[in-house]
Parts: sequence; C-alpha cells; structure tokens
Amino acid sequence: MCKLLKFFSVLATISLAIAGARSASCRSSDIVVHQTRTGRIVEGKPEYEVNLSNLCHCQQSRVVVRCYGLSSVEAVDPRSIKPLDEERCLVGGGRPIAPGALVRFKYAWLTPQDFPLVASKILC
Ligand SMILES: *[C@@H]1O[C@H](CO)[C@@H](O)[C@H](O)[C@H]1NC(C)=O
Repeated sequence: MCKLLKFFSVLATISLAIAGARSASCRSSDIVVHQTRTGRIVEGKPEYEVNLSNLCHCQQSRVVVRCYGLSSVEAVDPRSIKPLDEERCLVGGGRPIAPGALVRFKYAWLTPQDFPLVASKILC
C-alpha cells in the first residue's frame, strides 16, 4: 500500500514537472520571422513577403514587433500589421495567433526590414 502511494506520488511529481517544463518552454521568442523577396518590384523597390509564425504550443496574442513605422511604398494590410507608434507595430490586430499559425504580409522597400519581437501575451 505504502509502496503504491509512493509510486503515485512519484508519478504526480513527474507529470507536474513535465507540465511545468512544457509551459516554461513556450516563450515569446517562439514567434519567428521568415522573409523572402517576392521578385516583384514596386516603384523601383523590391517587394518582400513576411511570415510571422507562432511556433509555441500555446496561443499568443498582443504580438508587438519593432518596425520603425513600417516603411513601404505599397500599402500594407493593417489587419496583418500596423504601426502603433514610430517604433512598434501590432501584429494581426492583437488577436491570438494559434499554435503553428502564421500572419503574412507584404511590403516594398529598398532594404529588407527586421521585425524583432517586442512583446506578446502567451495564452497557455
Ligand atoms: C509563408 O508561408 C506560406 C504558407 O505556408 C508559404 O507558402 C510561403 O513560402 C512562406 N513565405 C515565407 C517568406 O516564409
């Protein structure tokens, strides 16, 4: 009996540790940016396609990246990304991005821009 109890308490400890590690392994840095040139030229500037993917196993909302006003000679879909101020942009209107899902947008500028993550809310 005592042995059985011990077995279950060990099992409980292990599953708690796994659950803890799982949520801890989910970070804002699980938002990854993939970017390529589309091959189109808009007003003499190359067009880029950006995928912001959520590699976390939980949803992430209120995703904010650094974009410095989102310079582009073509209109960028504000539902995908829109400037909040001179430095930051809100991704996907702040709506939750499902695990494995991505937000896509295109822009055209002389040089490719980085979109490093500023903040996100992890919904585990
Ligand atoms: C973005 O994702 C789409 C769909 O998965 C894919 O076809 C496209 O090549 C990706 N683009 C980049 C820049 O990663």
